[in-house]
Amino acid sequence: MSDETPEPPLWEQLADKSANLPQGDRLQKVLAATGWGSRRVCEDLIAEGRVTVNGDVAILGRRVNAIEDHIEVDGAPIGVRPDLVYYLLNKPVGVVTTSKDTHARPTVVELVPREPRVFSVGRLDVQTEGLLLMTNDGDLANRIAHPSHGVEKDYLAEVGNGRVSPGGLRRLREGIELEDGLTAPAKASQPEPGLLRLTIHEGRNRQVRRMCDAIGHPVRRLVRTRIGPLSDRSLAPGAWRELTTAEWKAITEAVAQGDLGYDPEL
Ligand code: URA
Repeated sequence: MSDETPEPPLWEQLADKSANLPQGDRLQKVLAATGWGSRRVCEDLIAEGRVTVNGDVAILGRRVNAIEDHIEVDGAPIGVRPDLVYYLLNKPVGVVTTSKDTHARPTVVELVPREPRVFSVGRLDVQTEGLLLMTNDGDLANRIAHPSHGVEKDYLAEVGNGRVSPGGLRRLREGIELEDGLTAPAKASQPEPGLLRLTIHEGRNRQVRRMCDAIGHPVRRLVRTRIGPLSDRSLAPGAWRELTTAEWKAITEAVAQGDLGYDPEL
């Protein structure tokens, strides 16, 4: 009698394979979502052998993990397409988040390189300081700004009228009725009396200021310290830097979690 284990029948091998279907998104979907063009254009890129995954030339239909796999087009990591730029700016007080101010005040676009032209993702009030993402990638900007993606933002707020009571903190956490409706529950803590750390994922106009007004503690100073996975304590007011590839991947993943923003059937 032979010791060799006989080959399982073909139908069993196929069943085994289907149980282990590769996970992840189709490569052309990931490329399209990162701005390389329509899915058709991205399929052509793959068919032409211009796309590699972890160093291997990819074939059409390949599935990838957009965060863990290293994907390149023409030798450039997909996160750093040469024509797209991503800046993290520490906006100082007194600078407006528009490209041209009607009152001739300084604007955020004057703080970053003029070419290529970029715009801010969302906005901060003129009196608010802190992190602002600036880019010419309209697709990523739309997805970050869209409330359905729920990208969390952290703020530090120095407020007036002394220590906020436990009841005030509870109201922030439960949601506050503002003139444009109830706010989503915020994370709220008070590291020291009169200093609030707030996490929200909506982007309503002057939201933190209005929430603090509503509990009787008007904001004296407001600083945004985090946008999803992006934070940087060492960036001086007025300074900017480019996102690292890891940061780009992390923010892309953060917006992909809520709503893919593209056809999941592809
Ligand atoms: N909430 C505010 O009140 N102002 C900002 O600039 C950002 C959030």
